[in-house]
Amino acid sequence: MNDTVTATTEDLEIELLLEALYQRYHYDFRHYARASIKRRMIHARSQLGFPTISAIQDRVLHDPAMLPRLLDFLTVQVSDMFRDPSYFKALREKVLPHLRTYPSLKVWIAGCSAGEEVYSLAILFKEEGLYDRTIFYATDINPEALAAAEAGVFPLDRIRKFTENHRKSGGKSSLSDYYTAAYGRAAFDKSLRSRAVFSDHSLVTDAVFAEMHLISCRNVMIYFDRPLQDRAVGLFRESLTRNGFLGLGSKESLRFSAHAPAFSEFVAGEKIYQRRER
Ligand SMILES: C[S@@+](CC[C@H](N)C(=O)[O-])C[C@H]1O[C@@H](n2cnc3c(N)ncnc32)[C@H](O)[C@@H]1O
Repeated sequence: MNDTVTATTEDLEIELLLEALYQRYHYDFRHYARASIKRRMIHARSQLGFPTISAIQDRVLHDPAMLPRLLDFLTVQVSDMFRDPSYFKALREKVLPHLRTYPSLKVWIAGCSAGEEVYSLAILFKEEGLYDRTIFYATDINPEALAAAEAGVFPLDRIRKFTENHRKSGGKSSLSDYYTAAYGRAAFDKSLRSRAVFSDHSLVTDAVFAEMHLISCRNVMIYFDRPLQDRAVGLFRESLTRNGFLGLGSKESLRFSAHAPAFSEFVAGEKIYQRRER
């Protein structure tokens, strides 16, 4: 069998598996950037010890316990607290002064992974005196990531990076004020999630659920194809209050979005946008 035939068969198997995941479990990866999904599938196949991608499909259709294992391969869970510190610095210095004028605030962290971004924003809002008037909605499609986010426990060897990022973001306190270290792990204070709601929500299949003052959706749409990116940005557009803020990841932008005219660049270098008046 030559390479072209192998690639075509694999592409077809991937297509069928994505369709099966959607039809059976309502997880819709059909419009994720295909090259990255293909890489992940091939990795999953070898790590899980299946001879073919069709064999994964057979298993996941008949054994729901296989689903979370597959989701771990299909969703990228890379994150850090205060990832790209300059983004959090820009929120602190440029966005929070506007948010301060509201008596109550809603913040949506879409694609929150294991909670690194949620705890970062909670700490930022505490340091700036806005925490008690804010509700944080932390959403993701990966149930294991959401459970980890709710637990707020991270390996201690990640804390050095988190601490450095926090300092670079203009942190006003010591990160160690917010966690207890024991047995190689750092458990973050419950007080940082007392105003957080963790829930399963997909930017691909689900709808708007509340009106937000700030949406932080970083490094999620990078995995979507263009129409799917437009769907997600459409949700953000619908969700934001008048003059609400949207923060994206460093490699993401609204430049090619069908919804671009609804937003203005607020901090251009940091991919922070503001919803134009409705
Ligand atoms: C690379 S992580 C980004 C984590 C964090 N926002 C950051 O920037 O550090 C991408 C996250 O998006 C989530 N995700 C993937 N598809 C999604 C979807 N359709 N709706 C919501 N979240 C999704 C993944 O499960 C994963 O937790």
